[in-house]
Amino acid sequence: MSTRILVTGGCGFIGCNFVRMVLAERPDWEVVNLDKLTYAGRLENLHDIADSPRYRFTKGDICDPTAVTEAMAGCSLVVNFAAETHVDRSLLGATNFIDTDMKGVAILLDEARRVGVGRFVQVSTDEVYGSIEEGSFTETSVLNPANPYAASKAGGDRLAYAYWATYQVPVIITRASNNYGPYQYPEKLIPLFATNALRDQPLPLYGDGRNVRDWLHVSDHCRAILFLIEHGRPGEVYNVGGGNERENTAITREILRLLGKPESLIRLVADRVGHDRRYSLDASKLRRLGWRPHVLFDRGIEGTVAWYAANAWWWKPIKDHDGEFRRYFAEQYGERLK
Ligand code: NAD
Ligand code: TYD
Repeated sequence: MSTRILVTGGCGFIGCNFVRMVLAERPDWEVVNLDKLTYAGRLENLHDIADSPRYRFTKGDICDPTAVTEAMAGCSLVVNFAAETHVDRSLLGATNFIDTDMKGVAILLDEARRVGVGRFVQVSTDEVYGSIEEGSFTETSVLNPANPYAASKAGGDRLAYAYWATYQVPVIITRASNNYGPYQYPEKLIPLFATNALRDQPLPLYGDGRNVRDWLHVSDHCRAILFLIEHGRPGEVYNVGGGNERENTAITREILRLLGKPESLIRLVADRVGHDRRYSLDASKLRRLGWRPHVLFDRGIEGTVAWYAANAWWWKPIKDHDGEFRRYFAEQYGERLK
């Protein structure tokens, strides 16, 4: 019998890259994708595989126990990507973050326990550790989430652990650094700046632009999750770091250089409140198991910027015609860019 995997949030950025990887690299697996199709979830992210006989899409909310029961039927593996994910949006209102990133996780875990799944991967984030000035976080570092998105993800992360500790649901928790690559919703730094630059529009860099993030190509994150399903130990947390720490100004300049656009497009704007200064992960626990990132940052960013340049069909309808995006953009950047 083939393996059936439930992927939640498979129409989002990382989820769609993961679904595509699973279908390509595990020819005997079937994928069920449960996604609510929020503003960030888009069917076109999986346009090329939608007709695969090994793929089934179900529109539904992980906070809805009936939808979860139906989607998880017959699945031995679960990977939970479904989440509200944008820090800036969580600063405008946190309740939907708490619903999906905490309550939704509990509903998935209850069902996973009932079904008796073989593995449940909770896709967490390095943001649960908060900011670090020097050195890097290990899996045993104290959690100190400092924005509502990070706090709600920390709740989901610890709930997953609690279901292992109390009921032995075989959870694996991944904490990855900032992902980049194709199909990332154009509200996040790299796709927003690449698509703005393509149109000669300003790039709104927060604060002094010197905050540091560790960048991980989405394919390396997806590969790590696939690897951990098969080689990770239940109840354990694994950092997934790219080992590519860059200041935001450096990323911004690189995007402009790749597109042949002038640095005069950079606009230093009012900072994000509670803006974490630096994220840094020690990923040696996962590396000791045999995983390492394949994509060199210089090549990865070049390919990513080229993807946005070549795929305006994907981002133009969002930026030009999606009322939700336009409302958000006006609220987030209207004053800043005046
Ligand atoms: P995304 O915002 O692009 O996609 C999220 C997806 O989840 C969308 O398809 C959305 O429709 C779906 N979703 C939201 N609420 C839902 C609900 N209640 N029920 C069902 N589906 C729902 O996010 P992403 O960047 O692909 O992130 C995926 C996961 O990886 C998240 O859990 C995020 O916290 C985590 N993560 C992201 C990064 C990153 O840099 N993007 C880094 C580390 C961890
Ligand atoms: P983002 O892509 O939102 O990811 P996260 O906040 O989860 O790290 O932001 C990455 C970095 O880029 C972060 O330091 C905030 C900064 N940033 C800007 O300077 N301007 C922007 O318009 C955005 C969206 C982000």
